[in-house]
Amino acid sequence: MGYVTYEVEGAVGILTIDRPKALNALNSEVLEDLNAALDQVDLDTVRCLILTGAGEKSFVAGADIGEMSDLSVAEGTAFGKKGNDIFLRIEKFPIPVIAAINGFALGGGCELSMSCDIRLCSENAMFGQPEVGLGITPGFGGTQRLARIVGLGVAKELIYAATNIKADEAYRIGLVNHVYPLEELLPAAKKLAGKIARNAPIAVRSCKKAINEGMQVSIDEGVAIEEEIFGKCFETHDQKEGMSAFLEKRKEKNFTNN
Ligand code: CAA
Repeated sequence: MGYVTYEVEGAVGILTIDRPKALNALNSEVLEDLNAALDQVDLDTVRCLILTGAGEKSFVAGADIGEMSDLSVAEGTAFGKKGNDIFLRIEKFPIPVIAAINGFALGGGCELSMSCDIRLCSENAMFGQPEVGLGITPGFGGTQRLARIVGLGVAKELIYAATNIKADEAYRIGLVNHVYPLEELLPAAKKLAGKIARNAPIAVRSCKKAINEGMQVSIDEGVAIEEEIFGKCFETHDQKEGMSAFLEKRKEKNFTNN
């Protein structure tokens, strides 16, 4: 996995896209390496993932323009599917994924961050969907996820005008949850990941599933999804452990994801 490194610190896995010479742009190989890195995550021990980019300048500067420049319709469609399949995998990954956005998050980079559950960024981050300036649409989910996150009007303006925005504006429109000085970004992401990892994994995973699935359906169908997922928590070890810890006024909890 030459372009993606994977490290584990306790219950937190850290995936780093590592192609700094091209500002971590996503060519086919990077996408395949990212997919292979996800295969490495041990879901029995890792409870939260962080996804970031190597270097101090860029999270991901987009899909690789050199690779895309000569594609046919069939090849362009296949390239879009390759990215979309992996980004959907991240969106549906059983454990939460935090994007730690350390610079440019343009095109496919912005799209990659939007497939993650939570976005944190550094003060030097820049977001945008510049595709229309290249004669294409966003192709790794940007036309779908941006509007879901920031609303229709803001998404359309950003995409139609190919406007890049800085971290403070991304925070203002709700594209990112928090902004940090660059050197504080990864520690902050690790702190949040650690906090998530200390909760009952079975419950955190169920929340991710309920929120994601509920966002795609009506409120009636959404609450029905919640009822089923909520009910399934009962009789689990983690439910017994969480509630007995409360009743026994015990701080330490031994959650096992069972
Ligand atoms: N694809 C391929 N190579 C890229 C790249 C990309 N998306 N972004 C940057 N690079 C390469 C540059 O070509 C350059 O390589 P060389 O040194 O070999 O010339 C290297 O990374 C450094 O880039 P710059 O010299 O341009 O760095 P800069 O600081 O002057 O500018 C930047 C940084 C504003 C991010 C600029 O590189 C840029 O505009 N990049 C393209 C951003 C973009 O348009 N992304 C969207 C791509 S389309 C897409 O993603 C489609 C989709 O939805 C699937």
